[in-house]
Amino acid sequence: MLGRAAITALQLAALAVFLVPAAASRSMSQETASSEAALSRGRLLAQVAEPPMSEIYSSEVAAAAATVRKIRWRVHLATGAPDCFERPILLVNGELSPVLEVVQGDILELTVRNDIPADYPTIDPGISIHFHGFNMKNYPWFDGVGGIEQCPILPGKRMTIRFRVNEMPGTYQWHGHNGADRMDGLVGPLIVRPRGAPVVPVKYDGERTLVLNDWWHTEAAALAMSLNRPFDAARVTKDSGAWAWTNNPQSLLINGRGFYGDCAIGPGGSTALPNCTVPQYWVPPGRSTVQPQASAVNPGCTHTNVTVAAGKTYLFRLISPTALVHQSVCFEGHEVTIVAADAVPIEPIKAPGGCVDINSGQRYDVLLKADQRIGNYWIYTQAQYRNGTPNGYAVLRYNRAPRKLPTTPPPQPGTVAPWTTEQTAQIVMSSVLLDSKDKSAGGGVYRTAMSKMPPATLTMLLNITQPLMNQTGQLRWAINNVAMQSPPPCEALLDLVYENPKWFEENVVPASLYNKPNTAFNSSALGVQEAKSGRIDVFLTTNDKKKNPPPIYPTAGTHVLPLKKGEVLELVIQNLNANSNNGDYRVPAGANRTAQEQHPFHLHGHHFWVVGSGLGIYNAKANASSLNTVNPPLRDTATLPQGGWVVIRFKADNPGLWLLHCHLFMHQFMGQLLVVAEDIEGIQKLERPKGLPECPATCVYNGAPWSNSAVQKEFGDSGFELPAGGR
Ligand code: C2O
Repeated sequence: MLGRAAITALQLAALAVFLVPAAASRSMSQETASSEAALSRGRLLAQVAEPPMSEIYSSEVAAAAATVRKIRWRVHLATGAPDCFERPILLVNGELSPVLEVVQGDILELTVRNDIPADYPTIDPGISIHFHGFNMKNYPWFDGVGGIEQCPILPGKRMTIRFRVNEMPGTYQWHGHNGADRMDGLVGPLIVRPRGAPVVPVKYDGERTLVLNDWWHTEAAALAMSLNRPFDAARVTKDSGAWAWTNNPQSLLINGRGFYGDCAIGPGGSTALPNCTVPQYWVPPGRSTVQPQASAVNPGCTHTNVTVAAGKTYLFRLISPTALVHQSVCFEGHEVTIVAADAVPIEPIKAPGGCVDINSGQRYDVLLKADQRIGNYWIYTQAQYRNGTPNGYAVLRYNRAPRKLPTTPPPQPGTVAPWTTEQTAQIVMSSVLLDSKDKSAGGGVYRTAMSKMPPATLTMLLNITQPLMNQTGQLRWAINNVAMQSPPPCEALLDLVYENPKWFEENVVPASLYNKPNTAFNSSALGVQEAKSGRIDVFLTTNDKKKNPPPIYPTAGTHVLPLKKGEVLELVIQNLNANSNNGDYRVPAGANRTAQEQHPFHLHGHHFWVVGSGLGIYNAKANASSLNTVNPPLRDTATLPQGGWVVIRFKADNPGLWLLHCHLFMHQFMGQLLVVAEDIEGIQKLERPKGLPECPATCVYNGAPWSNSAVQKEFGDSGFELPAGGR
């Protein structure tokens, strides 16, 4: 291992030269304060007591001056063409996906103003910002989940988010967490710099960040709304219209840029289209169907060039905020070594074939040495499990290489195999973090908090199915037969619980109500659009199957998993056939919904140990030998494989209401989420920050089946309907 000082100097140099993105420095003003007192005196929303910094780094560091990073974001609507196709997009201060960068221990003061016009179609008015991967300890109100932790920032309003960044250094992402704003572009990189020397030093000369997103030509609200209509043909009315799948994304973007229509190139430049069908990859009139080679004839179409200097080593921060797609991102002609997963150092490992599998919500830090002949190389990304999605392309360009596309044909979809569960299991915790003997500065506390996985005190099974809802004919995703519906927006769930710690118990609905098909659902079931009282059915998932049995028939409501302080919860998440688990088995003729899908499960408020994953039905005895209890990685997003299971474990040490959900937006929207209600007593001891957005007066559910007339009434005709044949 190299000396700490040398590495720090090197990294500081790298910081100065490469790292501070123009956007971040432009929108960031800094103010250094010498003491906590000075901080709280300011004109800031300083009502929340700042917690000590002892949790993840040494007290030595805590004594250092803290910096308040003041950032102002204006979120607004614009017209953009990230992949050459023009559509409305959401920008921040005129930019798509700006980088948000903070230093460990700093106070982030982010003022967000919603300048999106009130008449822009949305499935849930207002925005919120989530810091994906941050534990947000002591700050559950600023975790940013609309309806759960805060009411959204309505058009024309603003909110100041202020908290101490008490997080591990590394790569994260921020994104909108209200409605479907993520899919309109409200996502970006979030980077935490270490304060002082990093605990696990990594040597490199410069950094590059790649945001790997999927992209549609249709506005988010229209895509989401089509998933809300009745799937069951018998329930479709003229008003409601029928369920429609969003289809695969039109493009995969790398740093907000892509080539639309690139499927027109077959392997080796031929025009055979292995994974493309013409209507899906319709190219706007007047634009070349042959891309990316022909991008020169498509003015306005462009791609991302990533420049490197020969002989230098780069840390690539790979970030996936996708709505649907699990990707393999590959570096042509180069080896890459993965050094961190979801901001936590791992035992360095070479990515097979220079390709890294990254699921929605995940991040990987990889090292790439520019050790090839000076030239241009493809960085390409391929969708897994979703045939028909075109590849995304960027160019890795050596300094002094011609300003051209690579000479090799662009790699085509279907050429890279996804990682197997065995390959995924090779991602393990860094041995430096596991070495408890290392007493070096900043190490001790950080390590013990992370490395030692405690034994589970509680194990729960979460069955994943895709039921057809009896009452409405809607197709949903369910966890233990509950498809979660966003709570009514008239009061944040966290506030309800803060005001009344017994709120969940008092509002629990016995599952027996739902144990017969065609029972009259009560008012909060999906069939009813409005709940005057703002009350919503609550279902608990607990180990007490007598008191809290899961509903036998699929149902909708708020799904809560209560967790006591100090408990170590092991969750076995099991993928089942779409309609199994005593679900409603009515399958409309011709519909095939027995297939399973993969799901990236993300937990708010925590990193969790990924104890294992595999195929088939989990069996504690038979699968014991494949579990990793020695050096499991700590992550915040883990893949539940298609046809398999994943086991995760975490300790209840963070009071709050934390979402556990599939990070694929479509699945989350269709109900694949629940709320971990952690240490409710502890929540009472927190100070609720002032200045949270006011809640809208309406208690209209956003999970109800939309009818065209309701949408038309609010937003008019435009923006919602896909033209015949797709676009
Ligand atoms: Cu990145 Cu709840 O999500």
